[in-house]
Amino acid sequence: MSSLLIDNIGELVTNGIGADPLGVRRKVAVLVEEDRVAWIGPAAYAPAADHRIDVGGAAVLPGFVDSHAHLVFAGDRAAEFGARMAGEPYTGGGIRTTVGATRAASDDALRATVRRLRGEALRQGTTTMEIKSGYGLSVADEARSLRIAAETSSETTFLGAHVVPTEYADRPDDYVGLVCGPMLAAAAPYAKWIDVFCERGAFDVDHARAILACGQAVGLGVRLHANQLGPGPGVRLGVELGAASVDHCTHLSDADVDALAGTAHSDGFGTRTVATLLPGAEFSTRSPYPDARRLLDAGVTVALATDCNPGSSYTSSMPFCIALAVREMRMTPAEAVWAATAGGARALRRDDIGVLTPGARADLIVLDAPSYLHLAYRPGVPLIRQVIRNGVPQ
Ligand code: NIG
Ligand code: FE
Repeated sequence: MSSLLIDNIGELVTNGIGADPLGVRRKVAVLVEEDRVAWIGPAAYAPAADHRIDVGGAAVLPGFVDSHAHLVFAGDRAAEFGARMAGEPYTGGGIRTTVGATRAASDDALRATVRRLRGEALRQGTTTMEIKSGYGLSVADEARSLRIAAETSSETTFLGAHVVPTEYADRPDDYVGLVCGPMLAAAAPYAKWIDVFCERGAFDVDHARAILACGQAVGLGVRLHANQLGPGPGVRLGVELGAASVDHCTHLSDADVDALAGTAHSDGFGTRTVATLLPGAEFSTRSPYPDARRLLDAGVTVALATDCNPGSSYTSSMPFCIALAVREMRMTPAEAVWAATAGGARALRRDDIGVLTPGARADLIVLDAPSYLHLAYRPGVPLIRQVIRNGVPQ
């Protein structure tokens, strides 16, 4: 068995049970055996290992878990962004532009984009990245989007219900039938999750419920784009269906927050349905940010993710999202780092990632800084010095 000692860690974020929410330990070493964390202890007692990395007092964290990204697409929408920054509103209508470009692209072109963005994210510390379909919107194009996504991630999500494509514009019921029938059948072998954009202009609550129920019936877990552009029933639908995560949560009523808080974990820690906040989308659409404090104060588990997509949030950077969450959403640096690691893991119902405790997957990042605080304190600076994924230095 091959072993790797990461030695001379000044500050280790474990997200394990400890005095503070991040379970911070100081002056420690981490022993990795194969793809798992095998031991954590004082650097002075570090065991011998086949390989050793001396990080020189740097901070080490669990790799980021980006639980919401749309990477399978072609083209970009820079002109739409430019128009928005000159005053145009974001409506989601541009999704159809990307659908046209995606359908016209070759498998290899789509694959190259997924790999480029996944590589970009990895260099910024993301060791797990969920990938959605949703720019194909035909049986063949959704199936190939997920097939390509599954080459890169085991966390794949079928988003055939992103918008109603143009050819079904006057018969949305028929499109819902297509999504629940042949499209789901073709997509499900490559998908772990099902998602719906439940929003005015996309899918209403009855269509969303029907589609998500079809996905659940074939074993897919539920997640949802909800309450992004305005108030609505999406978050409560997610709670009703036992969703792992409701994403965006920008426009919430008291009833929405209460419903989320009501999904309290039996272990007494946080909620079963996670609120995943995507501040890159508010940044790029120049919209008000979600009220993270209200959710946290109600005891709701919060995750942070990039929403990486060519329309509303073309960033693959979790450090950028952490900095936004701290500065614009009044999260503490500790809350934001937790949400970008353990929070994302909970949003994917994973307990092997997002933590650095013995037995966890050896996904970790070494910062070019002595503390996790620097992720928000030094925004825009490339602070990820090294990434280790599945025990392997990248
Ligand atoms: O999460 N809200 C729906 N879907 C994406 C936007 C997709 C696009 O504009 O292309 C989102 O923001
Ligand atoms: Fe999204």
